[in-house]
Amino acid sequence: MANFDSDAPGYGINVADLDRLAAFPEQNPNLVIETDLTGRVTYLNPEAASRFPGLRDGTDMALLADVADFVVSFRAEGREFASREVMAGDCVFEQKVCYTAAGDDAVLRIYSHDITALKNAERQIAELARRVLHTQEAERHRVARELHDEAGQALAALKISLQLLVAEAPDTIRRSLEEAIDLVESTREQIRRVAYGLRPAALDTLGLSRAIDHLCTETTERTHLTVAYQGRELGRLTDEAEVCLYRFVQEALTNIAVHAGARRAYVRLSVNGDAIRLRVADDGIGMDPGILDDPVRAGLGIVGMRERLALLSGRLEVTSMPGRGTELVAVLPRDVA
Ligand SMILES: Nc1ncnc2c1ncn2[C@@H]1O[C@H](COP(=O)(O)OP(=O)(O)OP(=O)(O)O)[C@@H](O)[C@H]1O
Ligand SMILES: [Mg+2]
Repeated sequence: MANFDSDAPGYGINVADLDRLAAFPEQNPNLVIETDLTGRVTYLNPEAASRFPGLRDGTDMALLADVADFVVSFRAEGREFASREVMAGDCVFEQKVCYTAAGDDAVLRIYSHDITALKNAERQIAELARRVLHTQEAERHRVARELHDEAGQALAALKISLQLLVAEAPDTIRRSLEEAIDLVESTREQIRRVAYGLRPAALDTLGLSRAIDHLCTETTERTHLTVAYQGRELGRLTDEAEVCLYRFVQEALTNIAVHAGARRAYVRLSVNGDAIRLRVADDGIGMDPGILDDPVRAGLGIVGMRERLALLSGRLEVTSMPGRGTELVAVLPRDVA
């Protein structure tokens, strides 16, 4: 028999403690609700009663929507509590639903924390990130065009002028002029490469599949990797989706060339049900997928891929085993692309 005498040693609980414990939900700035197993409300703390008076007479039960089914599902997993998110009016609540057996009955205690401000902030950050990416791509587009149209054209004109001079130049300076022409040509090539990296013109002119094909061919020519491409034309996607998928392949192939020690890479663009799937695999050393959740070891490349995809409601799947290569799959829902 418990002894509630405040001076009794050993039990560690007394009347003062009980009063204090009972006061906790009363003072809690979050919402505390108690119900029976059918969801009938048996207790509301002041915060819950003042924000949702309809809980008392059953006229506003949004906070307790499907709570009985929810309890059945977590009890089936052998758990005593579980968390979920619930919309009530314009607000979002994070809820912890606890099941407590009380004799033959059971009570549910539901603690609800208003996370509307947090959700709004997350939405604003996602929107901001989307705008930053959009602005970055627009700016890259502009710089690429300027480089091509201004510097590229000026160098082309310079080359023609030098070629005309060569024809008439005395032998003493002809060689220097020819070297200058070579320099102009290699500078033009470098500018073309930079411009291409900034905004792949092929994306505008060829569409996604052929632009990726082009990237694979170029990587094969430029690196020790042999890249095989298999893909189907999808028709035009939104600008954001095409750039997102193109940048995904660009970064994945760069990673393979730099980190994988691979000889071959395989790129495949396909549609599976409602999703566009872009797979990049290699036969390299593999990677520890734990890297992806480790901010110290992860670089910006994979984080960037994930963020770009998430902004379009897509996702990144990574499969890798040491010594067995790495496979990255970008998945984008067809209807947002
Ligand atoms: N195909 C791959 N094979 C083996 N390891 C890989 C592969 N791709 C990525 N990694 C590993 O994952 C890490 C993170 O890649 P991520 O692209 O995010 O960053 P990074 O390439 O190191 O730097 P950044 O892309 O920011 O220049 C790499 O440092 C590398 O260790
Ligand atoms: Mg990288």
